Amino acid sequence: MNAVLVASNRGPVSFTLSEDGGLTMRRGGGGLVSGLSGVTKDMDVLWVCAALSDGDRSAVRLAPGGRLDHAGYDTGALRMLDIPPSTFHRAYNAIANSTLWFVNHLLYDTPNSPQFGRRFRREWESFQSYNAAFALALAEEAGPGARAMIQDYHLTLAPAMLRGERPDIRIAHFSHTPWAPPEYFSLLPDEVAVEVLAGILGADHAGFLTERWATAFMDCCEAMLGAEVDRPGHTVTYEDRTTRIGVHGLGVDGDTLWARALEPDVESHMAALRHQVGDCRLIVRIDRTELSKNIVRGLLAYREFLAAHPEWHGRVVHLAFAYPSRHDLPEYREYTAAVQRCAKEIEDEFGTEDWDPLILNVNDDYPRSLAAYRLADVLLVNPIRDGMNLVAKEGPVLSPRCALVLSREAGAAAELGGDALLVNPYDVGGTAEALYDALVMPEHERLARGGRLRAASTALPPSAWFTDQLTALELT
Ligand code: F6P
Repeated sequence: MNAVLVASNRGPVSFTLSEDGGLTMRRGGGGLVSGLSGVTKDMDVLWVCAALSDGDRSAVRLAPGGRLDHAGYDTGALRMLDIPPSTFHRAYNAIANSTLWFVNHLLYDTPNSPQFGRRFRREWESFQSYNAAFALALAEEAGPGARAMIQDYHLTLAPAMLRGERPDIRIAHFSHTPWAPPEYFSLLPDEVAVEVLAGILGADHAGFLTERWATAFMDCCEAMLGAEVDRPGHTVTYEDRTTRIGVHGLGVDGDTLWARALEPDVESHMAALRHQVGDCRLIVRIDRTELSKNIVRGLLAYREFLAAHPEWHGRVVHLAFAYPSRHDLPEYREYTAAVQRCAKEIEDEFGTEDWDPLILNVNDDYPRSLAAYRLADVLLVNPIRDGMNLVAKEGPVLSPRCALVLSREAGAAAELGGDALLVNPYDVGGTAEALYDALVMPEHERLARGGRLRAASTALPPSAWFTDQLTALELT
């Protein structure tokens, strides 16, 4: 039985199955996983996650009770849930990623979507089953008086379900995404909106990355549940239970990041990139190819900048790293193609024999990304909307003289806004001007802003983020 449990869709490891049936284990990716992995390895925590692939399922089926650590893997205490693939796909792709993610990032093309018909109702039932599987596993694993830390939009129903099974334990939920304002959240069918909000309110403590997302959540609870909201006191009372609302920013563990960025593979990528771009200034972006990251408008802004500033031709290169993401969804495949088309147009319009204005890379390469951060003169982070955005925090840690062009809609803007050049992510012209201002920023100003950005980025490392929530849970 365990005292502290963590639950998230993606776990700290994933497995690939080779043709001969062999299994290879890799570390899991994404902001949530890298933040939590650093924390759980130093603490006595059981992590519950879903099997995401055939490789994961093969590994789980050989592990007693789904415990990969009991099957000899060096994972820390980890239980992986073998949820039936069709249930998992409906819950993960159709509901979590195509509905809840779209609502909270304001991504719908509303004249055409969403359409919540019969198919959606079936998908919703899968989402309920998927959440129930997590709630049951947590109820089985939790010791008396345990604390369960449930993560993100995939698991919005699990807190209330777990409370039904185990009223004796303390439950926290944390949203790593933004939260939509009520007028947008109410796109969801009413009964679904109510279930999501009441699901999270099953927790004793509901955490958000910024005050803005916490306020939006409280606004939704008031508008859609008629809950009693105490904004200054940060509580929501619904059906005679009170949930405390917390704001816990998440930053970067600067020492660990630097140690990795000094390794030889990163140094050799730096040398190769420098050779490729010569002494040009570098505008860098690093993202998953994710609709909310606004990569196409970022490229269009670079194009406007080049059109307005011919004096920079031959003197600047844009390194745009856009790694594959969620390719099961057609919108994401189309978006990747749109990014590639736009990049090609820029290369055709401005490229010369001696100068490539843009290098787009769509393959995942972590050491190469770290090398790009270290070389960056300007970092462009322009999401439509983002829970926090850790790229905006990793850049200043690894490049002390880098100017940051940052969307005002990223959670990170609340902490870094004073020293970043803030942009409206829809304003391509404004973003182009900010790129110019960032390139011509005097050296002393870069260093002064860079120092403050670095301090703010490392002020809330994952360990503090996690222990703060455990402490807040004690106080509920
Ligand atoms: O932004 C919240 C988050 O959980 C990130 O940590 C993560 O990168 C993403 O959403 C989920 O991505 P995936 O579907 O690839 O697990």
